[in-house]
Order: sequence, then structure tokens, then C-alpha cells
Amino acid sequence: MEKKIKVAPSLLSFDFGQLSKEVHRIINAKADWLHLDIMDGIFVPNLSFGIPVCEAIKDAMIFKDVHLMITHPHLYVDSFVKLNANLITFHLEACERKKEIQDLIQKIKSKNIKVGISIKPETPLEYVLPYLKDVDLVLVMAVEPGFGGQSYIENTTQRIKTLYDYIHSRGYACLIEVDGGINEKTAKLAIDAGADVLVAGSYLKDDKIKEKIQKLKNL
Ligand code: DX5
Ligand code: ZN
Repeated sequence: MEKKIKVAPSLLSFDFGQLSKEVHRIINAKADWLHLDIMDGIFVPNLSFGIPVCEAIKDAMIFKDVHLMITHPHLYVDSFVKLNANLITFHLEACERKKEIQDLIQKIKSKNIKVGISIKPETPLEYVLPYLKDVDLVLVMAVEPGFGGQSYIENTTQRIKTLYDYIHSRGYACLIEVDGGINEKTAKLAIDAGADVLVAGSYLKDDKIKEKIQKLKNL
């Protein structure tokens, strides 16, 4: 059976002056998930949006994929759970110890929502492998986190392939999500390598969003 690719538009690239309109446009375009990029200016060299903006869209009828690019992610899990997050993904690099990572995975799971772990482009894949049996998703960054509109880093494709082989040879249920520089061309590379979920910001923000989402799903 053909696998179903999910598309998660990144809100960061859309017009915050018309927040609820934009979220509806994303829903009407048949996006699977809404990707919410939370940045703190410390873990990444940029600030995005946080709790008040997520509060404003908490009742939107779409799966909310929260990507925490922040230090001390454990301090904010409860807040995002209250804001109807369906998946919370934190960065491996934001945690100092193995125990911290394991505890955070358990904490998010205990809220009955999905948990993801993300890795930056330069982080060796070996670091994330021990956690793949316990998480619902691994988020592979295809750009340095912090900004939309960057170009897909080429070796991401190989990284996805390696993760795919590792996950599938062990029968884990972990999905692979890719984030950064996704367009028709790079999406095809990522899907062929084994990606299940595509995050896309700048590629999807225009009025062709519906056609483009369809195209990404059928590559
Ligand atoms: C980058 C964010 C991405 C970003 C994607 O730090 O995690 O989700 O918004 O934007 P594009 O698709 O434009 O690279
Ligand atoms: Zn993201």
C-alpha cells in the first residue's frame, strides 16, 4: 500500500496580521497538520511567537504540531498541552543529559499527546537513535533552525534514509518529519528517503497553497 504523506504548513511564513484567516486558509487547503515554530532567541538566534498566539488559535480544527526551539522545554509542556497541542517536539540539543531527555519524553507522553524529538543538521544521528523506540516522531532539520526561507541542506536526504532504515529494521512506530527548505524538488528527495511528514513554510504561503499541498502529497 502506498504510504500517505502528511503536509504541515509552518505558520511562521503566513500573515500574522490576519491570523485566524490564515489558519482557515491552511485548513481549507487540506493541510494535515499545522506546524507551530516556537523560538526563544536563546536556543536559536531569533524570536517567533509563543503562548498568546497559540492561545488565539487553540480551537482551530487541525492537528497542532508544536516545534519547540527553546531552552528548558520541560517548563513549557503544560502550557502547550493546555493550548491543545497534539504533538510536542523538543530539540535533543536543548537537553544536557540522557535522563533529562527520557524524563521529558515520559512527561509529554503522560499528557496523552504525541511526542517528537528533533535534531539540528550538524548533530550526529547516533545521538538520537536510542530514543526512537520511545517517541512518535523524529523531526529532521534540513536547515539550521531559526528562520524560514532557507535552502535545504543536501545531506539531509542521506540522514533521513539512515533513520528510516534504523526505524524500520527494528519495527519502531516512529514517523520521520522533515523541516526546512521544502519545495517540490526537495520534498521528492525527502519522501524517497523515507520521510512521512513534510513541513513547508515559504513554499506554501501563496494563494496556490491547495494545489501545492496536493502536489506534495502525490509526488
Ligand atoms: C525553521 C522552522 C521551520 C521553517 C520552515 O527554524 O523550524 O519550520 O518555518 O520554513 P521554510 O519551509 O520556509 O524553510
Ligand atoms: Zn519547524
